[in-house]
Amino acid sequence: MISADPTALHFNSHQARLLDRACKHLAVHGGPDTQGTAVLARRWAAALYKKLDATQRAAVDTFVAGFGIALYFQKMKIIESDHTPDQLPALSDLKRDLATLYLASRNQILLNLVQHRSFAFDIDNQSKQVRLVGNFKGGGRVSLPNEKVTDQVELSSHAGVCLGLHTEPPYYCAIKPEAGHSPAPSSLILTARWNILNEPTRILPLPSVVERLNGIEALSLASPSFMYTRSECLTAAPNEKSIPGSILQPDSQSGFAIRFSAYRHSPIPHSSKLVTDAFRSLHTLIGSSRPLEYVLQPDSALLIDNTRTLHGRDTVKDNRRLLIRLFGYCSTATPIVLQPDPLVVRG
Ligand SMILES: [Fe+2]
Repeated sequence: MISADPTALHFNSHQARLLDRACKHLAVHGGPDTQGTAVLARRWAAALYKKLDATQRAAVDTFVAGFGIALYFQKMKIIESDHTPDQLPALSDLKRDLATLYLASRNQILLNLVQHRSFAFDIDNQSKQVRLVGNFKGGGRVSLPNEKVTDQVELSSHAGVCLGLHTEPPYYCAIKPEAGHSPAPSSLILTARWNILNEPTRILPLPSVVERLNGIEALSLASPSFMYTRSECLTAAPNEKSIPGSILQPDSQSGFAIRFSAYRHSPIPHSSKLVTDAFRSLHTLIGSSRPLEYVLQPDSALLIDNTRTLHGRDTVKDNRRLLIRLFGYCSTATPIVLQPDPLVVRG
């Protein structure tokens, strides 16, 4: 039952209308960051699941069971009046916008369709679930009006910089909490509000990469021998340091879970040759694999298993490109809950 490829899930017009009604309901309610929306999203997802045909259910069930790579939802309704603006509006305005809440709510319902719950980390995105992915801070192909060439650009989804292949941080653990930290997201879901140049999102399924590691390499990658640099957009206690951790973790359900960033991870200083060789092998295998490309638009969304799949993108070309992202936890993930509704967990 192991799925090596992302699965396209096309909604029919009846399903799309149901989902549209659900998104409008949740958006008017305030979207994912409003108390009470989570239970509504769960109910709408259950109603949508009942309308799926056998093939669609099989794709969803595979993801629920932990054997998915990604689900590519297509043929969803859009807000016809939401045209691409001349320039990207301010982040604060976009957050409140009904079209943003509509798409964020749709992401939340689709997460619930695979029995994942949306959440936010306390150390990221001001503890909000809805993350707007756009070039607000510079670093894109075209400079922002106030951007200086000499500016140090943040390596995050609020900038236009190229983001190499990675899973979403934090990287402490994958399923159960460790050392006071919640697991990494089980999934992320992205949709586009504006993407007029059809700039793609890349993903790389990892099962075929992991299968090509030899036993010693896999063991080395499962040892706590790796460090990572923290994202500048994560807030944490100033004296907190990155702790050594593993990259690969056995998982009794899906076989393995991985936490990795091509541009943040490295072996800890003075690592053994086994560790550095294993790290190099992983890099080589990833570098020689061809990522899959998906062009997101308002009528599509890409749900990515963050324990089995890497994602990334090129430098942003059109500064109006705006994606909307939510994180999800599967039913077996046990985060440290700080606020149950809307769900906020300790990072
Ligand atoms: Fe990312």
